[in-house]
Amino acid sequence: MKSDVIVGLQYGDEGKGKVSLCLSKDEKYTLCLRYNGGPNAGHTIYKDDKKIILHQIPCGIIEGLTSIIGSACVVDLEKLSIEIKELKSIGLDIDNLLKISFNAHIITKEHINDDKQNDTIGSTSSGIRPVNRDKYDRVGKRIIDIPKNELEKYIGKVEIINPVGYIEKNNGYILCEGAQGFELDIDYGNYPFVTSTHCCSGFVFNSGIAPNKIKEIYGVSKIYSTYVGNMNYQPEDDKELIRLGELGNEFGSTTSRKRQCNWLNLDKLKTSMYVNGVTILIINKCDIIKELDVYKLINNNEIIQFKFWSEMMDYIKVALCKYIEPTNIKFSYNKDFI
Ligand code: IMP
Ligand code: MG
Repeated sequence: MKSDVIVGLQYGDEGKGKVSLCLSKDEKYTLCLRYNGGPNAGHTIYKDDKKIILHQIPCGIIEGLTSIIGSACVVDLEKLSIEIKELKSIGLDIDNLLKISFNAHIITKEHINDDKQNDTIGSTSSGIRPVNRDKYDRVGKRIIDIPKNELEKYIGKVEIINPVGYIEKNNGYILCEGAQGFELDIDYGNYPFVTSTHCCSGFVFNSGIAPNKIKEIYGVSKIYSTYVGNMNYQPEDDKELIRLGELGNEFGSTTSRKRQCNWLNLDKLKTSMYVNGVTILIINKCDIIKELDVYKLINNNEIIQFKFWSEMMDYIKVALCKYIEPTNIKFSYNKDFI
């Protein structure tokens, strides 16, 4: 058994969905696993020019990979049933392809109401904080606790599995797909402006993936950074950053909220790469910064500006050389390809 992991290195919305979709075309993969998060995530992908937003189901399913919703994921059954319907409408055999871990926790209406009424940090109102609170309070409801006939109303014939035994039995090559990003991790992020779970590569362990089975760790970043929530993140009245957000169409795929923009922070990226053990770095949306034609980043707490894109690329390669071979940095200029 082997696995590769895709992890977001910033505040989510780095383009992990595209990376997952591109990688899952590789025939070596036999399974795809979503290892964290829930309906708070939004992976926008394009299949034959049709825009599809997946929240809870791993993107690899689009390429026909058997796909698992992992143990640490939290599941909103009503929203999941909508996703299942949408994927069925494009001809996917979801009943056979999708598997859900028996011990994933269920988001209830009460969780969503609580999140809407009592949130202070700008959550996605998906019920993530209350469901994880109940999970750790040991009073949560899991998939296995829902009667079979009720479950069927939402997920049809989709199989409920124990991912630990399932993965061992199927002994293949697993593509593990993360949600959110390192800066939203409950321990590593700027608490309390975080999500209520872990968003780092090491978190694959609880779905039956042992650390020594991991081969590549694909870290995904954008060439600039964005954040959605109540923290002040974008400097006010910065015309370049306002334009950057427009060019990059930086609106949340789950809540449609405007994402705050800032320059790429190499200080943060280095920590993120180190802790996640990134072996291949993908830097997305380089086409957008080229279109803006303003080349800035933050390193050692200072804003550095370059005249040309090539200069900025070379600078990044040198600044990160302690963390990754320059040849393992992929600058991406396209929403469909790495
Ligand atoms: P929650 O996960 O809905 O509780 O939200 C906590 C924080 O994480 C908020 O600032 C959200 O905007 C942010 N967040 C959660 N999921 C995502 C995501 O998939 N992309 C970007 N931001 C997210
Ligand atoms: Mg997103």
